[in-house]
Amino acid sequence: MSAESLPSQSCDQAEVNEETKAGNYFVSNYPPFHFWDPGTARHLPELLDVPSAIETPLGLYFHIPFCRKRCHFCYFRVYTDKNAGEIQRYLDAGIRELERYARAPFVNGRLPQFVYFGGGTPSYLSVPQLRSLTDRMKALLPWTAAQEVTFEAEPGTLNEAKLHAIRELGVTRLSLGVENFDSHILEINGRAHKADEIQRAYKAARAAGFPQINVDLISGMVEETDENWRENIRKLVDMAPDCVTIYQMEVPYNTGIYKQMKVDGKLVAPVADWATKRGWVDYAFTQLEQAGYTVTSGYTAVRDPSKTKFVYRDSLWKGADLIGAGVASFSHIGGVHFQNVAEIGQYIDTVEAGELPASRALATTPEERMIRELILQMKLGRVDSSYFQQKFAEDVRVRFGAQWSDLASRGLGEWDSGGFVLTRAALLKVDTLLHAFFLPQHQNSRYT
Ligand SMILES: C[S@@+](CC[C@H](N)C(=O)[O-])C[C@H]1O[C@@H](n2cnc3c(N)ncnc32)[C@H](O)[C@@H]1O
Ligand code: SF4
Repeated sequence: MSAESLPSQSCDQAEVNEETKAGNYFVSNYPPFHFWDPGTARHLPELLDVPSAIETPLGLYFHIPFCRKRCHFCYFRVYTDKNAGEIQRYLDAGIRELERYARAPFVNGRLPQFVYFGGGTPSYLSVPQLRSLTDRMKALLPWTAAQEVTFEAEPGTLNEAKLHAIRELGVTRLSLGVENFDSHILEINGRAHKADEIQRAYKAARAAGFPQINVDLISGMVEETDENWRENIRKLVDMAPDCVTIYQMEVPYNTGIYKQMKVDGKLVAPVADWATKRGWVDYAFTQLEQAGYTVTSGYTAVRDPSKTKFVYRDSLWKGADLIGAGVASFSHIGGVHFQNVAEIGQYIDTVEAGELPASRALATTPEERMIRELILQMKLGRVDSSYFQQKFAEDVRVRFGAQWSDLASRGLGEWDSGGFVLTRAALLKVDTLLHAFFLPQHQNSRYT
């Protein structure tokens, strides 16, 4: 699962500005998960019976929750102990879940405009598993209208034959979880891959002809230093991927790092503070800009913005429908958010019993949908008032006048002719600025 599209959460400003403490700060959705409930999830079958507006873009997400090793910083639900039979049973359940959506009136003849394989590690699957899975997916909802098919990959799981097969399946955007170029840092953070596997995988991916290769890095892994970070960015610029995504390390409660903090009786995580992590992203963005890249969000730089799009992110941040299949997957259908059960055994049993596996949901109001899109689009560094006027009949300049004035008075942004533009400093800590735009009842709530 792309962290850009993930569950997340909040801690207070002081925490974000200083030491890295346990908890999430990344805001990936709105309203917060605290307000999603099992009762609403039970209405999913009725919702599927109502045809959606055919002009609403439809996307498809498939979650692969398997990894070779669990990274010490990872907060996703992943399994490292499943055999081929168990994996097959999971994939069969995912297809069965998709079958239910594919024949529902809500699809209304639409085909997916974007497809996303997230995890966990989709590249953990073998070529025969991937061929069979994608053939069955395409038979249910053909990819003929898909502008983008993204596939997350861990470098150590890739070889030439697998990369060619993944490209042949129709994947257009390969997202490589590089995280760091130093083998020692990778190892002490629990990554399964080594530095030389990164270069090998990247070369083979280029040879396989993917239209877009993204590289994920994390600023602030355990034992990161200024010197190593500069070396990382030098190697990154040399590599010249089409797109770079840099996350600032957070240490949620369900990570190995937090468990170790508890054993040691520590409140502060053994990683750099927030100002240092932001400084490292700033350094990376500056170097990338000097190499011709354009910064397109608080986390992303692209080499050629006219060619390199991220349809999945941009569609979701503008309110597209998303069918999410698999354990713990998120869906967004006709303004209603859903999340599936988070445990694989329960997920499979529920689907095999012919039930839908959604465990919590929230039916949003038009006002909540407007705020959701506003805060997600702020992560792009610019909010266009005409977009909100047209779509929601809301003048966001007036509606959030106090919030914009506050940001402007702190030197964090200003209005140009049509939009509010965040400064680089604001963009680097954008997740801490979004809560001020939440409705009062959603302020200070935790995302879990
Ligand atoms: C599902 S993983 C990507 C695919 C594959 N599992 C891998 O790691 O190579 C999504 C991304 O989330 C980011 N991520 C995971 N845990 C994080 C954390 N605690 N803080 C910041 N970013 C994190 C990493 O950059 C990772 O590449
Ligand atoms: S490989 Fe990716 S999904 Fe798996 S544990 Fe590591 S960061 Fe998490």
